[in-house]
Amino acid sequence: MKWFTLSLALVAPSQAALRFGCSTISIQRLDPLVEPGRIPSAHVHQIVGGNAFAPDMPTGSKNNISTTATCTSCFFSEDFSNYWTAVLYFKARNGTYKRVPLVANSALEGSTDGMTIYYTQKDFNSNGNAKITAFPPGFRMTIGSPTVNNKAGVVNGLRYTCLQNINTRGAETAELPAKACPAGIMAIHHFPACWDGKNLDSPDHQSHMYSTTKVGTFVEAGPCPSSHPVRVPQLAYETIWDTTKFNDKSQWPADGSQPFVWSMGDKTGYATHGDYVFGWKGDALQKAMDSSCMFQACGNGKPLLSQSKDAINKCKVKSTVTEDTEGWLTALPGQM
Ligand SMILES: *[C@@H]1O[C@H](CO)[C@@H](O)[C@H](O)[C@H]1NC(C)=O
Ligand SMILES: *[C@@H]1O[C@H](CO)[C@@H](O)[C@H](O)[C@H]1NC(C)=O
Repeated sequence: MKWFTLSLALVAPSQAALRFGCSTISIQRLDPLVEPGRIPSAHVHQIVGGNAFAPDMPTGSKNNISTTATCTSCFFSEDFSNYWTAVLYFKARNGTYKRVPLVANSALEGSTDGMTIYYTQKDFNSNGNAKITAFPPGFRMTIGSPTVNNKAGVVNGLRYTCLQNINTRGAETAELPAKACPAGIMAIHHFPACWDGKNLDSPDHQSHMYSTTKVGTFVEAGPCPSSHPVRVPQLAYETIWDTTKFNDKSQWPADGSQPFVWSMGDKTGYATHGDYVFGWKGDALQKAMDSSCMFQACGNGKPLLSQSKDAINKCKVKSTVTEDTEGWLTALPGQM
């Protein structure tokens, strides 16, 4: 009997995983992680999370965004982290560009645009009985690079799904889809989940992390190497670009190629990248990882605090960079 109880305990791991929406707080040319203080930065980003986002953000142990932010656009109100990616533009046959709108994940409450954020453990449903260590204050990282221009340079976590309907998942490609997608294009960023346990950041913003992530949606990552022994949450972004109003083939390039281009000028999709600045209040993220809640059911104080749709969509950051990112543009901002 005793043995039976013990084995039950072993097969009932804490299964916590977070999946939640965050609305857009800003779309502008800033990049406090890679180009701190540079106004404007090289290319346009879309940003979600806390309103302490700024051209230059305190680094290392000085990082106090979890106390200086006064609101967040995320469902969990103790999450003042910032999450951002490049912005997708449509290039019409006449050569002008229009930003593609963002839409929220249909399965989530709250956000109306922005991104879906995940903090998973072993895979989509469980943690494999491993201790998952939350990111520490001051932690930052990036994935991918705006200069990658070939498939071999694309790391496993970076993919696209051509949405046949708003709920399509899987069928991931390393390239931007070649054909018109009936319900939009989902850009996917699965960050590395192995940390060196020492550095909050590194000069390239990546070498303090190690990726054992496999290709494919929420597949279990391999074991962490001794150089990066600490298993942290598997952070992932899903960003749905509503390309549907640009599916008129008469506006696509005459050579039949696809018309979407990232804000840094990349038409292949290989240069997709994402940035993360940790900003959860106190030990909220660790508490969630140690619990057994799933997705938005982790809110309402069980164990995380969450907020209303109105509060999520009200939190914004005023643009520091005043330039048009939204009209029909003759050039991508910053790209000559
Ligand atoms: C946050 O950190 C910045 C930079 O170190 C500092 O100027 C500011 O006073 C701090 N604010 C609070 C509320 O701790
Ligand atoms: C270019 O094409 C788009 C899409 O048809 C149109 O909305 C825009 O006004 C055009 N711009 C110019 C300068 O012709």
